[in-house]
Amino acid sequence: MNTFWSKSVQSTELLDTSRKEKFNEDNRKFWFDLLQVDDNLKILEVGCGSGHFTNMIKTYYPSCEVYGIDLDDNHIKFAKRESKKLNLDVQYQVVDVKHLPFEDDAFDVVFSHTLVEHLPFDDFIKEQKRVLKPGGKLIVMRVDMVKKNDKPFSFLEDEINEVYAGLNYPKGVSVGQYVEDPDLTMRRLDEHKFKNIKFNYDRIIFYMPDVEPNKEVAIKQIERNYQTKFSNALFTIDRCKVDDETKNKLLGLLKRQYEERLRLLNANKKLFDFQSSLLITISAEK
Ligand SMILES: C[S@@+](CC[C@H](N)C(=O)[O-])C[C@H]1O[C@@H](n2cnc3c(N)ncnc32)[C@H](O)[C@@H]1O
Repeated sequence: MNTFWSKSVQSTELLDTSRKEKFNEDNRKFWFDLLQVDDNLKILEVGCGSGHFTNMIKTYYPSCEVYGIDLDDNHIKFAKRESKKLNLDVQYQVVDVKHLPFEDDAFDVVFSHTLVEHLPFDDFIKEQKRVLKPGGKLIVMRVDMVKKNDKPFSFLEDEINEVYAGLNYPKGVSVGQYVEDPDLTMRRLDEHKFKNIKFNYDRIIFYMPDVEPNKEVAIKQIERNYQTKFSNALFTIDRCKVDDETKNKLLGLLKRQYEERLRLLNANKKLFDFQSSLLITISAEK
């Protein structure tokens, strides 16, 4: 049983929450366009994590045949549970992208979101190319470095960072070892004889309560942000075997930070603080 990602990197629930923030009802057209989704296609997501992307595709394109694979058992268990809840017929399997259990030339679209940076490129691409139909689309997405100064709201941020910096992180957890510039990935695809290689760079803003016209939605954004930080903290506390005093200090700081942000919203003091990520999308044809 492989649970490396869900136990050592990010819990499935946290991963899922962050994906739902990014890819949602409101911006779904943007994502579907990037993923080149259309009716009646056979689509595979490699490294699908909690299955949010594949479930979104199947929800809005029910005529598509949709598959998701991932190495982590907990992620796939979660993905299966969610798709069942939503009454979606998506085929999920625990599989390594290096050994895909599909026929040659089977898929119209094969895509990944934040997988390419975690393994050597040849291991990443070989099987994806094999299972793509001639003329089929490969979509490789990853997130670029996000600058910390996205956050004009810095109340207690230094104190919180100080607690995190003082923790004992377990050794041997290393991900993202194969991050490289997009031009290099594009040249590699060219070497692998892909055609029509293209590049997109997009900034996705998923938190900006002060521009949200509906106050209830703005409050929800702040609450969700707090819940994400809180869950992240619990995950780290567990991984780092943190003592009760430090745990209470960290959770207390997060709660005060959240209360202050809500207070400012209610007092109509605008900060225009936002959170975003920079999305790199490389597409190509077999
Ligand atoms: C950063 S997560 C992204 C998950 C999902 N694509 C998303 O964006 O929500 C990276 C994922 O890649 C998976 N993964 C890592 N190496 C893999 C491999 N060799 N084969 C299949 N999946 C792999 C991990 O289990 C993890 O779910």
